[in-house]
Amino acid sequence: MPKIIYETHDGQRIEANAAVGTSVMQAAKAAGIDGIVAECGGSAMCATCHCYVDEAFLDKLPEVGVVESEMLDCAASERKTTSRLSCQIKMTEDLDGLVVRLPETQV
Ligand code: FES
Repeated sequence: MPKIIYETHDGQRIEANAAVGTSVMQAAKAAGIDGIVAECGGSAMCATCHCYVDEAFLDKLPEVGVVESEMLDCAASERKTTSRLSCQIKMTEDLDGLVVRLPETQV
């Protein structure tokens, strides 16, 4: 099962297993990671699941969609070139070892 490494804003690294097809947000919630709020439950309507994807994995992800991009503009923490909504990233075997950094705040 692919693994995700979440790096919290204060530098903690938390590893979680995520079945293929599970979103990075769902895996974070299942692992009890506080830095992902996910108010809308994964509908790309809240931006409280914002994360920064490690640059080594950016090419492995689908393009940012129009709705995702609009929501990222509304995120509570600074939008960067590595910003994604974690609810829009579905795990694949290819993403094993994915590193995502959590922003300072989600609300
Ligand atoms: Fe709301 Fe991702 S959970 S945008």
